[in-house]
Amino acid sequence: MSKPTIAGNRTGRKLGQRVKKKKLKASSRQWLQRHINDPYVQRAQLEGYRARAAFKLLEIDEKHHILKGARRIIDLGAAPGSWSQIAAKVTGSTEEDIRVAAIDFLEMAPIPGVGILQLDFLDPDAPQRLIDAVGGTPDLVISDMAAPTTGHHRTDHLRTMHLCEVAAHFAVEVLAEGGHFLAKTFQGGTERDLLALLKQNFRQVVHVKPGASRAESVEMFLLAKGFKGRKTDGDATGKTDDDAISA
Ligand SMILES: C[S@@+](CC[C@H](N)C(=O)[O-])C[C@H]1O[C@@H](n2cnc3c(N)ncnc32)[C@H](O)[C@@H]1O
Repeated sequence: MSKPTIAGNRTGRKLGQRVKKKKLKASSRQWLQRHINDPYVQRAQLEGYRARAAFKLLEIDEKHHILKGARRIIDLGAAPGSWSQIAAKVTGSTEEDIRVAAIDFLEMAPIPGVGILQLDFLDPDAPQRLIDAVGGTPDLVISDMAAPTTGHHRTDHLRTMHLCEVAAHFAVEVLAEGGHFLAKTFQGGTERDLLALLKQNFRQVVHVKPGASRAESVEMFLLAKGFKGRKTDGDATGKTDDDAISA
């Protein structure tokens, strides 16, 4: 997919606009200015996606081909729903035959063919409710979850890494053989145990930074392709002799 053009656009709004509202704090004004001048935001509006995040998934897919052939998808941290919109489309999910389950603790407007749970993914009931909602074995688990930021870099990093780890364990528990797992992580060190778990259970593990992910953001994605399957009890526990594995 080509990146959106920086110059002209078809939204009728010019890029390079300045926000003049005097009542806004400087930081809010800067955010709003960046948002309305962001070509991905404008392209999302044009193409009917709820968030610019859609292009992160589409760009990752363009290079790594994780969506093609996916029959059931679980979307973690789904609101406002652009990844679920894509998931519903690629799986051909309908209200009669739901193939996508999405979870977020924020409210999310309905998407046809998506079973939405408004729940914390860390809630003990969440895994089973997601499995019930997706209606069969998923072949793709995608997570764009990021913990609400506190402003303290180390705390934010640890919280989001924890979400990523819980999501990885969930993926290993639910995926069909050959399935894939994609999760948001932060630059600055993916935990060794998490990488070991993924490398033990998937054929390929890579870090990805799509163009739609802002260059100044520490966000990046961890992609684990080709789930090896749950062969015997204890096979997917993450316990490994190969402790020195790194990405
Ligand atoms: C970047 S947004 C996701 C955007 C989404 N991929 C899209 O395309 O619209 C991250 C979401 O993760 C959610 N989130 C963070 N922690 C969560 C948790 N423990 N359980 C459920 N959702 C969570 C947030 O509420 C937020 O809506």
